[in-house]
This record gives sequence, C-alpha cells and structure tokens, in this order.
Amino acid sequence: MRIGLLTGGGDCPGLNAVIYAVVKKGINTYGDEFVGFLNGWKGVLDNNWIPLDLKAVDGIQLLGGTILHSSRTNVKKIPGGIEKVEEVLKANKIDALIALGGDDTQSVTLALTDHGIPGVGVPKTIDNDINGTDATFGYDSAVSVATEAVDRIRTTADSHNRVVVIEVMGRDAGWIAYAAGVASGADVVLVPEKEIDIDHVCKLLKYNYDNGKHYGLVVVAEGCHLPEVGQVLGAGKVDSFGHAQLSGIGEELAKLIEEKTKYETRSVNLGHLVRGGTPSAYDRVLGQRYGLHAIDMVHQQKWGRIAVLRGTDITDITIKEAVATNRRLDQRFFDVITDLEAKV
Ligand code: F6P
Repeated sequence: MRIGLLTGGGDCPGLNAVIYAVVKKGINTYGDEFVGFLNGWKGVLDNNWIPLDLKAVDGIQLLGGTILHSSRTNVKKIPGGIEKVEEVLKANKIDALIALGGDDTQSVTLALTDHGIPGVGVPKTIDNDINGTDATFGYDSAVSVATEAVDRIRTTADSHNRVVVIEVMGRDAGWIAYAAGVASGADVVLVPEKEIDIDHVCKLLKYNYDNGKHYGLVVVAEGCHLPEVGQVLGAGKVDSFGHAQLSGIGEELAKLIEEKTKYETRSVNLGHLVRGGTPSAYDRVLGQRYGLHAIDMVHQQKWGRIAVLRGTDITDITIKEAVATNRRLDQRFFDVITDLEAKV
C-alpha cells in the first residue's frame, strides 16, 4: 500500500518513535511505501510531502518533536477542504492515511473517514487527556522534565524563603501538574478539574511558615480557573479549532498569594519546556507500540479507528469515542493530592 503519515497539533516527545515504527514495520512486513505530509493537515492541502523510507527514519525514535513538523489546521472549516484532501490523496495515489494527533486533529480524521477516505488515528497530546486511552506518549517525558524543574526550584525557593508558583501545561486536565506536583512533593497542587480556593492555598502555605519551613512550592496547570477571573489567557490568540492560548495563571496566582500572605512570591512558567526535548525510554517504547498497531490497523482496514492503551495492551476504539470528551482527573487523584496536603 502507499500510505500517508502526518502529525497535527502541539508536538510532544515520542512522535518520531511512532513514525519510525510505522515505516519500519510497513516496509519490512507489508512492503508498503510512505509519504510524510509536512505541517499536519496543511501539508495535505498544500500537497507538500517528503518520501519516508528506512533511511529517512533511521534513528529518529530518539529525537523530540516531529520530523514531519506540525500545525493546527482545521480542514473542516476550510470551504472545500475535505474535497481538496481527497484530490491530493488521489493525485499521489495514497491508499490510506495515518494521522498522529489529539482530539482536534482526529476530528478531521473522523470527518475524512465519514467522507469515505481510508484513515486511522494515533492519539497524541502532552496533556495526556485523550478519552479512551490510559496514557499518551510524551506525558512520561513531560512529567520527568517538570519534576526536575520543581526539584531545582525547591533549593532556590528555600534559600530565599520564598513561595514559588510553577505553571505547567494542561488545558482541560491536570495530569502533568498532578504527577509532577506529587513527585516533587509540592505543597500545593492545582488542576483545572477543580476551581482554585485561594484562601485554602494561602492556609497551606502559612502552615509551612508557622512550622519552620520558610518557603513553599505551588504547581498549577495552565488551564486552572481563578475565582471571578476564570482561565488566564495568554496573548489573546485563538486557534482554528477555537481554543484560546492559555498562559499566565502562575503569575496571577503569585500576585494573589503575595498580597494575601505577605510572603515573597515568584512564578515560573515551564510552558513549552516540558513539551520539548528527547523522549524518555518509556515514551520511545510506547510510541513504537502505537506505531506498530497503527500500521496493522491500516492493513486490517480499521478505518475511523484510533490506537489506544488499555492497561498494558494496545488496542483500538472508534475515533468518535476518542474525541467525544476529555479524560480528566477524578476523585481518586484528588484524594492523592489532598491526602498529601497539610491538614489546615
Ligand atoms: O496540545 C496541548 C497543549 O500542549 C496545551 O497544553 C497547551 O495549552 C497548548 O497545547 C499550547 O499550544 P501551542 O504550542 O500552540 O501554544
């Protein structure tokens, strides 16, 4: 078969590991040919692609980002977009598409498969919140980087007797904040699933100062809601899927904490730092397992389906189910956070 591959939406470590495994198994086992569309769905619309052979993917599983580059292009919003994709695929004799992406990218895959274009998905998001899958590649790497950053911030917060608020990615779900916060022993962990109670946050920090620990660490997900303010928007930009750019809750929270507690408070936004760089060994393995399953899905003609991790198994579900909602933290995870908090 001649198969098109693309990566859409925000990047994450492990994308190249998926590409590597798809191409390797596709060529070695099935005798496939591969076309890598550049810049996500934009590359399909622009007929912009590179050939992907064994040489092109050699060693890429250890590289961060995506060798195919990415964009947030909503084909559904472009008049005649679906037909244009169909035309480009036909012109390049593409038999099937494998789209690596989050819910936005996969909503396009779904629209295309509903239109009769053969395609399957591989779930991708640093936020780890795709419905129906227990873990997405890149998350493990992001948590390690964020944890190391909080560990480093701890020593300088301690030296200077400061509170430091550390902002991490997590638009709708606080998986990174949860894991990095717990792993690093932060005093306060805030996730978008729960509205922030600023008085409680201050009480937790005051507990430290009253008990001889003259510093505090707060980990907050970018998508958290501040009382009376809601989410904190970055540059006010909105992408083609209607998502506003989020950034700055750490800074706002630091101001509020300093105002209420009078403790010197600083903020650090880890932002894209946690999304960049080399994938962990776990993410390289997970990405390759997703890739191996995706190429099998193509040869089994599982159109409109997406690979998922269930427990320790890779299987697949419909893209429709995967994009229906986000997988968010629930009471079990809130309990971990509260059980580790000071009792105030
Ligand atoms: O893909 C999810 C995500 O990493 C969010 O956590 C974040 O809000 C967003 O992407 C950032 O996207 P961009 O790189 O386009 O600013």
